[in-house]
Amino acid sequence: MSRASLLLLLFLSLLPVLALGQEVKFVYNGFSGGGAAAVNNNHNISLNGIAEVEGGGFVRLTNETSRLIGRAFYPLPVRFRNATDGSVFSFSTAFAFAIVPEYPKLGGHGLAFTVAPTKELHGGLPSQYLGLLNASDVGNSSNHVFAVEFDTVQDFEFGDINDNHVGVDINDMRSNASATAAYYDKDGKQDLNLKGGHAVQAWIDYDGVAKLLNVTVSPFSWKPTTPIISFPVDLSSVLLEEMFVGISSSTGLLSSSHYLFGWSFSMNGLAPSLDLSTLPSLPKPKKKTHSLAISTSVAAFVLLVVAVIGGAYLFYRIKNADVIEPWELQYGPHRFCYEELKRATKGFRDKELLGFGGFGKVYKGVLPSTKAEVAVKRVSHESKQGIREFVAEIASIGRLRHRNLVQLQGWCRRRGDLLLVYDYMPNGSLDKYLFDNPPKVVLSWNQRLRIIRGVAAALVYLHEEWESVVIHRDVKASNVLLDADMNGRLGDFGMAKLHEHGGNPSTTRVVGTLGYLAPELTRTGKATTSADVFAFGAMMLEVVCGRRPIEPKALPEELILVDWVWELWLAGRVSEAVDHRFCGDYAEEEVNTVVRVALMCSHPTASERPTMRDVVRYLDGDADMPELRSPLPNEDRLSPVAFDDFVHSYPSSSFEKVSS
Ligand SMILES: *[C@@H]1O[C@H](CO)[C@@H](O)[C@H](O)[C@H]1NC(C)=O
Ligand SMILES: *[C@@H]1O[C@H](CO)[C@@H](O)[C@H](O)[C@H]1NC(C)=O
Ligand SMILES: *[C@@H]1O[C@H](CO)[C@@H](O)[C@H](O)[C@H]1NC(C)=O
Ligand SMILES: *[C@@H]1O[C@H](CO)[C@@H](O)[C@H](O)[C@H]1NC(C)=O
Ligand SMILES: *[C@@H]1O[C@H](CO)[C@@H](O)[C@H](O)[C@H]1NC(C)=O
Ligand SMILES: *[C@@H]1O[C@H](CO)[C@@H](O)[C@H](O)[C@H]1NC(C)=O
Ligand SMILES: *[C@@H]1O[C@H](CO)[C@@H](O)[C@H](O)[C@H]1NC(C)=O
Repeated sequence: MSRASLLLLLFLSLLPVLALGQEVKFVYNGFSGGGAAAVNNNHNISLNGIAEVEGGGFVRLTNETSRLIGRAFYPLPVRFRNATDGSVFSFSTAFAFAIVPEYPKLGGHGLAFTVAPTKELHGGLPSQYLGLLNASDVGNSSNHVFAVEFDTVQDFEFGDINDNHVGVDINDMRSNASATAAYYDKDGKQDLNLKGGHAVQAWIDYDGVAKLLNVTVSPFSWKPTTPIISFPVDLSSVLLEEMFVGISSSTGLLSSSHYLFGWSFSMNGLAPSLDLSTLPSLPKPKKKTHSLAISTSVAAFVLLVVAVIGGAYLFYRIKNADVIEPWELQYGPHRFCYEELKRATKGFRDKELLGFGGFGKVYKGVLPSTKAEVAVKRVSHESKQGIREFVAEIASIGRLRHRNLVQLQGWCRRRGDLLLVYDYMPNGSLDKYLFDNPPKVVLSWNQRLRIIRGVAAALVYLHEEWESVVIHRDVKASNVLLDADMNGRLGDFGMAKLHEHGGNPSTTRVVGTLGYLAPELTRTGKATTSADVFAFGAMMLEVVCGRRPIEPKALPEELILVDWVWELWLAGRVSEAVDHRFCGDYAEEEVNTVVRVALMCSHPTASERPTMRDVVRYLDGDADMPELRSPLPNEDRLSPVAFDDFVHSYPSSSFEKVSS
């Protein structure tokens, strides 16, 4: 170290003492302790949550685990107001970040530049709250939280405009101003993907005199002259005399790694832009020790896949020219060759049959090319018209990705047959564990709770987190499959809708299963997310009670599970309904919570039911549950009478058999 820089270091280390009450300015060009950053400002960044400084000198705020919070704050409080007249200062900041999502197109929440009374933001939740606020304090003006969010998930609850936006948040997660991430250059407005995995620089400038807030982003080191948000706002009611400044980040059900590379801040002055080329950068994707062998085999595998697909295509072109249509090829990767699936299932042999799903037979298969185990569902499907929409629908289902959904790997259409290829779930379906007598294995309470949570997460994803609302329409224990780790995964999503394309459009068929159908469905026939919530409630009760929603062999008053549990709940005797196979080994409080949430979900009046997002919150204890309102006697319950009417008025072929 040169003498000059030693002197500078000495001077700077005295500065905080000399500068008490003066304007804060700092620059972090990377965050490694002993490096330039420390010399520059002499204060190591303060991390909380799971944030860590990585070897490369950048901060990893979160990793790809769900529901995490990570924060990086300037360690000292910053004065935001003039001590003499109390006016709010102007401030300016620039920082460089990158968001690397678990799945390329699906963000897992985001990060926010934050000005708050504490560095820890006690009570802040992950997911859509970005570690800033929680369900009870959101919107409260006594929070004194000002944030600029960089959000990669569209939360309908908070009116987010899309899944790639910048928003100004004042004491609330509902943005006071927001804009799609973009920047202006000489050619006009350019799109910017926040979750593209590359470095993005953001500038936030507040003019305390003009009371104007500007937000600018770009993928470059230079600052575009036109901001994407220029929002007139008086921050004097939000900012206290002294506040902490930092970046808060969170993941949700889906997750992203959020990284921070550099950060500058200046009170009453312009924060310098960061030079992205000199900042630490993300390491290239990790090379394993046997990188050569692996990359060779990966290359071989890719070649093989390309060859298989190419071969299949050629083979098909020649042999089955009438089946392939050029427009189908744009969905290429998901299209399997019929012969491959036939071989995989040994010619759809009965011995390979895994079961009968709502829409067809399911076979176990081993793909000859990769030896991967799959489940192949064979649906007979008569459809000529609307086939383009039909394939688009499949392509869209194929893009749904969630750890609690059974992944659709691909499909194949051949004349009247539709073959759907799914991940194989080695532990079969949940209903086998609940209803088989005697059962193979009795699932413990903890296992059951985990399954319930998993399915709830999948439904939040389908209802709220996907680009369009997906209604499952057939949530039930037999549609929940268990993976190798006994996680619950929802299957058959999108099927009901798909099936409609093949059906006769003039007859509206209620799709679903008796006992899980919301009462209003039998009147309106219209599928809604709230009907899914009803079915999920019925499923939760199945899991807790270990019996089917309609049990013809039960005593008359116990025939319909939901009604029976309601009676017991009102009488304070819920424990009588709990599966006796637990032999009393369960957490009573948790069971009570689940039953209470289940009854709320299965409320006969749709408006009394929570959303799936609320359900997750209640199950996680993140929000207080409202009072449970018991159904009035005249409310539309699924009484045995209605049940009879119902059986008569709908063709029974629409439903699976109810009794065992
Ligand atoms: C900053 O971090 C470095 C590396 O962890 C450490 O050596 C140094 O003592 C820290 N400095 C302060 C002021 O805490
Ligand atoms: C992410 O961080 C958490 C907490 O440090 C850790 O438990 C988890 O294993 C990490 N996940 C991944 C995918 O690295
Ligand atoms: C604070 O306000 C006083 C009185 O209005 C003014 O003289 C002074 O320059 C201000 N200080 C700063 C740092 O702006
Ligand atoms: C919400 O956050 C506040 C702090 O702002 C905290 O006091 C409160 O306990 C939190 N509520 C919940 C339900 O976590
Ligand atoms: C806002 O928060 C304060 C302090 O936590 C609390 O006293 C007040 O009741 C809250 N207001 C609302 C509307 O929730
Ligand atoms: C910001 O939005 C919240 C909630 O939408 C609202 O209560 C508040 O008044 C707004 N603040 C400003 C300064 O616009
Ligand atoms: C904010 O942007 C407007 C419009 O581009 C500009 O006139 C103004 O000077 C900017 N203010 C700050 C504080 O950057």
